[in-house]
Amino acid sequence: MNNTFLKACRGEKTDYTPIWMMRQAGRYLPEYQKIRGNVTFLELCKTPELCVEVSLQPIDILGMDAAILFSDILILMEAMGAPLEFHDGRGPVFPETIRDQSALDKLIVPNADESVGFVMETIRLLRQELKVPLIGFAGAPFTCATYLIEGGSSKVFWETKKMMFREPQLFHNLMEKITESTIGYMQAQARAGAQALQLFDSWAGILAPCDFKIFALPYVQKIISSLKQFDIPLIYFANNGSTLLDYSVESGADVIGLDWRINIKDAIKHVGNKAVQGNIDPFALLLPEDELRKRIGRLLDDASSAHGHVFNLGHGIHQFTPPDQAKIAVDAVHELSSR
Ligand code: CP3
Repeated sequence: MNNTFLKACRGEKTDYTPIWMMRQAGRYLPEYQKIRGNVTFLELCKTPELCVEVSLQPIDILGMDAAILFSDILILMEAMGAPLEFHDGRGPVFPETIRDQSALDKLIVPNADESVGFVMETIRLLRQELKVPLIGFAGAPFTCATYLIEGGSSKVFWETKKMMFREPQLFHNLMEKITESTIGYMQAQARAGAQALQLFDSWAGILAPCDFKIFALPYVQKIISSLKQFDIPLIYFANNGSTLLDYSVESGADVIGLDWRINIKDAIKHVGNKAVQGNIDPFALLLPEDELRKRIGRLLDDASSAHGHVFNLGHGIHQFTPPDQAKIAVDAVHELSSR
């Protein structure tokens, strides 16, 4: 068993810096596309045997030091009772938006083992196959709320911010319900065998710090504190979150995920004795090999003072990234960090 990733999360000494990449199981791999060619995205998410196969691909093909469960943050929203559709080229769509109390009242707090049992089954099956640790995940409540309120992806988040500022109580009620659901969901993942858990807050960065503190952070804290009993590393990733870094630390997470917009050295000064995860620009994978290796070397140096460093991209790997470039990065991290 290769436990390098878990050790780095706990700030323990490792023989080299472990690496995985957010969204590592996905469309940039032809092997993923082959499977995806026969099923819709949602069918894929609900078929444990196929989820296992695509979760294993980046481990087998690229040599990542951790696997991430194949699923989507929005699967839980569907289990809460919000019909979910994925349209090619347009991303996720929720035709029934949540914009008033009566729509919110129709959402339920699901029993995760029953309503998304396929996720727990995927975790159990993966644990039998894997020789690296398995990361489970969920969306952070604020990010999930934006999808439910907007009805899908958004650029300006008009409806979300309108609700926050005009009907704050309604917004908090929605956050409360998502939080309760997420606690049940992540606890079920831990019981099924997830060895670390990550909260993805992809849209946290659209908030002013003062609003993040009131409308998002308390819910992240509540989820994190409900998971401490499992004694597994908890990772919080706020995308575009450099200006929220001190709050990310207050989340209680053991590992602070960093996007590429901040120098990791500066970030480390804020995180105290927690580990950091990140943070190369996903597009830097397009650099010529020698420059990519140099950039990775610099990042490793800059992170040398960290109390644990998990190498990652600053956000998900882009779908048009050549897999060979991802492989160069994995090999470079292993080689340049080996001690
Ligand atoms: O990281 C992994 O490899 C595990 C699987 C995973 C997926 N989505 C699979 C996926 C994870 C961890 C996610 C998280 C996720 N989903 C986030 C947070 C991370 C981030 O990127 O900010 C968000 C915001 C979503 C919601 C979502 N799912 C969107 C907006 C889209 C469409 C746009 C896009 O990026 O593709 C998806 C679809 C999705 N989720 C795909 C995959 C592999 C592509 C689906 C396909 O095959 O067509």
